[in-house]
Amino acid sequence: MRAEGTPMGKYRIAWLPGDGIGVEVMDATRVVLDALELDAEYVHGDIGWEFWCREGDAFPQRTVDLLKRVDAAMFGAITSKPVKAAEAELVPELRGKGLVYRSPIVRMRQLFDLYVCLRPCKAYAGNPLNHREGIDLVVFRENTEDLYAGVEFAPVPKELSETLVKLSKPFAPFAALASDQYAVSCKINTKKGSERIVRAAFEFAKTHGRKKVTLVHKANVVRASDGLFLEEAKKVAAEYPRVACDDANVDAIGMWLLKNPFSYDVLVAPNLYGDIISDLCAQMVGGLGFGCSGNIGGKLAVFEPTHGSAPKHAGKQKANPIATILAAKMMLDWLGETEKAGALEAATAAVIQAGRVRTYDMGGTATTMQMGQAIAAAVLQPVAAGRG
Ligand SMILES: NC(=O)c1ccc[n+]([C@@H]2O[C@H](COP(=O)([O-])OP(=O)(O)OC[C@H]3O[C@@H](n4cnc5c(N)ncnc54)[C@H](O)[C@@H]3O)[C@@H](O)[C@H]2O)c1
Repeated sequence: MRAEGTPMGKYRIAWLPGDGIGVEVMDATRVVLDALELDAEYVHGDIGWEFWCREGDAFPQRTVDLLKRVDAAMFGAITSKPVKAAEAELVPELRGKGLVYRSPIVRMRQLFDLYVCLRPCKAYAGNPLNHREGIDLVVFRENTEDLYAGVEFAPVPKELSETLVKLSKPFAPFAALASDQYAVSCKINTKKGSERIVRAAFEFAKTHGRKKVTLVHKANVVRASDGLFLEEAKKVAAEYPRVACDDANVDAIGMWLLKNPFSYDVLVAPNLYGDIISDLCAQMVGGLGFGCSGNIGGKLAVFEPTHGSAPKHAGKQKANPIATILAAKMMLDWLGETEKAGALEAATAAVIQAGRVRTYDMGGTATTMQMGQAIAAAVLQPVAAGRG
């Protein structure tokens, strides 16, 4: 028996499958990590809808505590529902107690200050879903501030509307509205938050030989918060003279990315714009089955596919696990296991290119687990997997 406190592996990884297809894609990913023989202890953590319904908390304190004691975490997906639907699904004894559902992943990002959301979007050769072959973009999304700070009012309290009347001329057209006829969500960008996400993007560009960082904003309209982001970003950019820098409005970049994806390299944006452009970039390289991400802070990093729990596919072994497998590759890089990360990526690329094993979204009939097993086999026998 191991002594208390002695880790069973070199790494302790929190394993948070969550809901729906989250469970299936995580199972398939584990097969790949096992083929890589990562020296790790995987510790299951409770998270998701059933814990909201049963305990009134989708992200129980025991899981928060677990995350304080691990090197990294892998997260599948969770189901979220609007306020009234969430209340209705609580066990009867918890209803009417003022419990409010908040997304566990948003809470996790704020609680552990996981301020970088890193989303690589790479078109693997031979993926029938590629918008164009050769796309290789990396999005840095600020992960804790902006419209996701959670400072929201509906109905709007009288004190707030009275203050806004006093302080803001543009508020005048809204001043006479009844408190339940409008809602206010605050977009909060800080100097510190803007500085550190932009620095993370430039550091990545510098260390990975990337040529350019594009700052994404809407500072011509959202002058205060986006203006601050852009000003701080430009100060950071000046410290990296070897990395080119340009900036673009978020609406324009939507158009340009689709038209000229090869004009861009690394992109960095405040939270909401980052969320939107990273989904656009993910769609250009295969969609939800390929979108992987890392939520990275100073002490903890949580890796996940960007898709949700896809209830209509849950339990059917249909979902593509590649997004989660590529999230595991990001975790290996973050742990410093670059050789294993490279082997995992090469195996995934080989299976995609060979085209023999494809899930439904790629036009095939392979199950979630069959895709995981094919990639695991390619880890173990790299040459055989590459033969088309
Ligand atoms: N990070 C998260 O956990 C997260 C993210 C987004 C949505 N959600 C939640 O997930 C639930 C379902 O949301 P949704 O249906 O809008 O989005 P979703 O991402 O779960 O699924 C949308 C559709 O995309 C396709 N899809 C998603 N993942 C796929 C995969 N791996 N392989 C192949 N196809 C895939 C499916 O057709 C699916 O029906 C909601 O409760 C939502 O709140 C959670």
